[in-house]
Amino acid sequence: AVRLRVREALGAREPAGEVKVQGWVRSVRSQKEVLFLHINDGSSLENLQVVADPSLENRDLTFGSAVEVQGKLVKSPHRMQNMELKAETIRVVGPCDAWSFPLKMKKRHPLQYVRQFPHLRCRSNTLGSLLRIRSEATAAIHSFFQDNGYVHIHTPIITSNDCEGAGELFQIVMSNEARESAEKTHFFNVPAFLTVSGQLHLEVMAGAFTHVFTFGPTFRAENSQSRRHLAEFYMVEAELSFTESLQDIMQVMEDLFKTVTSTVFSKCPRDVELFHKNIASAQKVINVTGRSCNPVIISYNEAVEILKQASQTFTFKPEWGCDLQTEHENYLVKHCGEVPVFVINYPYDLKPFYMRDNEDGPQHTVAAVDLLVPGIGELCGGSLREERLPFLESRLQRLGLADAYQWYLDLRKFGSVPHGGFGMGFERYLQYILGVDNIKDVIPFPRFSHSCLL
Ligand code: 4AD
Ligand code: MG
Repeated sequence: AVRLRVREALGAREPAGEVKVQGWVRSVRSQKEVLFLHINDGSSLENLQVVADPSLENRDLTFGSAVEVQGKLVKSPHRMQNMELKAETIRVVGPCDAWSFPLKMKKRHPLQYVRQFPHLRCRSNTLGSLLRIRSEATAAIHSFFQDNGYVHIHTPIITSNDCEGAGELFQIVMSNEARESAEKTHFFNVPAFLTVSGQLHLEVMAGAFTHVFTFGPTFRAENSQSRRHLAEFYMVEAELSFTESLQDIMQVMEDLFKTVTSTVFSKCPRDVELFHKNIASAQKVINVTGRSCNPVIISYNEAVEILKQASQTFTFKPEWGCDLQTEHENYLVKHCGEVPVFVINYPYDLKPFYMRDNEDGPQHTVAAVDLLVPGIGELCGGSLREERLPFLESRLQRLGLADAYQWYLDLRKFGSVPHGGFGMGFERYLQYILGVDNIKDVIPFPRFSHSCLL
């Protein structure tokens, strides 16, 4: 028998003899004359209908059990489906105690409910769709950059640099068992951390390749009780050499967003529809080609003016020089008409050492850009980098970092070029395109409580 995936079976043009389908039972309905099963193997949201003689019914054939069905693929008499499988044999490969199995047949479980079962929730429709979308989006991001001539770089996960300088680092130490002596805590003889961004490593590569990108796990020891922060998340980062304007960086962000989103929407229409119909609230359903995805650009100065003139009172009073809080971001997006908003040129003192001085006053603003989107807030952050040795040197000296970043200063001595780049949070991206409220619902394994650290 030819082994078929459910997706292939459903899409087959012609009936076929002797085929074999393997998967998990999503429903069992036994009638006098006929037994109906629905089988899912993760290849699509749709299940394959199996039609069998009631004599094939068996005690172990329950919701959730793993089965292997052999038979003939035939045209289905039902309007809603193309093909169905007429079973000749049904073998229960792995039984499932449907009573204690937390998922129930034909029930739409809320995301909060399935979050309690990180090891089983991938068998629900919603998480199945999410994980297929996540997989397609990952591939689409790689294709976008490869198609545009970027070189993919695997930047290190263990590093000694604190790229963002915000101190939200997880430090790596050896376990007691691995230590040669009580004093030797640093495996590499210097403190090492989990990466907070691959940017500095990409900047190294941008000294040899004009276009590079990385897409990998990123770690931040910050409040992960929020619905848009994770301690471990994925970041897409790009770095472009010979780039003198923030406009170029913003263009790549917009192209990346639009290209990847249209690819995902066209490759998994049913999975995306499930989110747009059942999960997202109406105003959160986005349409890539519509007006709601055309961004506007405002400066940080303008943003602060808008906030100061707002009738709304904020918990954090808007003041030039202060960071934009979530409440401010939400207000700005609303003020601009619920479209993506680029905020550019932030105060010098607010931003990390690598950002380029705009020279619009003594250390007044830097060429930074954040992309804010409806319902989420900050989706991307980027900047032009300070490529001028004297500027960078004095800034690092003031921060007491000149020694640690000698290698970074070297990059400004040997063929330095104007360059810039950005990072996009992958989970926030998924939240935005699917209208998902809680970031824990767009990752494969939620770590929401200590009893459930998978
Ligand atoms: O704005 P961030 O901190 O930018 C950087 O790290 C730059 N070095 C990137 C670069 O220019 N190459 O982070 C980028 C994005 C944020 O806009 C946000 O979407 C996401 O990463 N992000 C998080 N996502 C989930 N959980 C967290 N704790 C996040 N912190 C940042
Ligand atoms: Mg940021």
